[in-house]
Amino acid sequence: MEAKRLAGEKAAEYVKDGMIVGLGTGSTAYYAIQKIGELVKQGLKIKAVATSTSSEQLARELGINLVTFAEVDSIDLTIDGADEVDPHWNLIKGGGGALLREKIVAAASKQLIVIVDESKVVAQLGKFPLPVEVVPFGFEQTQRKLAELGCEPQMRMIDNQPYLTDNGNYIFDCHFNEIKDPEALHDRINQIVGVVDNGLFIGYTSKVIVGSSDQTVTELTRA
Ligand code: A5P
Repeated sequence: MEAKRLAGEKAAEYVKDGMIVGLGTGSTAYYAIQKIGELVKQGLKIKAVATSTSSEQLARELGINLVTFAEVDSIDLTIDGADEVDPHWNLIKGGGGALLREKIVAAASKQLIVIVDESKVVAQLGKFPLPVEVVPFGFEQTQRKLAELGCEPQMRMIDNQPYLTDNGNYIFDCHFNEIKDPEALHDRINQIVGVVDNGLFIGYTSKVIVGSSDQTVTELTRA
């Protein structure tokens, strides 16, 4: 998709020599990683931490130098996609199932550049079902507790089997339709025993780059 490519390639311009870079996950982050791979071939020297096994594999194929948290204390810049971005730059992430590693990397990053196409920019979060990562043991009970928050939690499936995250957990996609107070909901969900984390990213975003179908790229201004 051209809009995603434009956003991804623009974000790659912020990667500089010597940086430790967080590599996001998904179809938009794919273009940023491809571009970073090109820059590495031209001599850019970076170390990178991947947010999923798929991004790790892509980075390895492109010759990007991968490291783990055993080798780095913090990340200079992370580039990642999102499923929804609100006017305060709060996000819903995890459509691709990588929300936990993405949040660990975002929380360790000095800067998070979010790259999206225009369809992801919303006035209020919640139309996109909120992904929640849940430990398999006792998931039925965790699912009931999630439903008490006013959503319909649906277990994510793949080939008629529960989808498993890179961490061996399930995902419940929770249809809230509108999320009026993202911070409060984030905290209430994460207080449920059995929940590992949820796809609300509050206060991590430093910049939002939006690619549009008319071939333009813009940077959003925060409300
Ligand atoms: C991965 O788990 C997600 O958080 C992605 O960053 C998000 O779903 C956006 O993906 P696309 O760039 O593929 O739309």
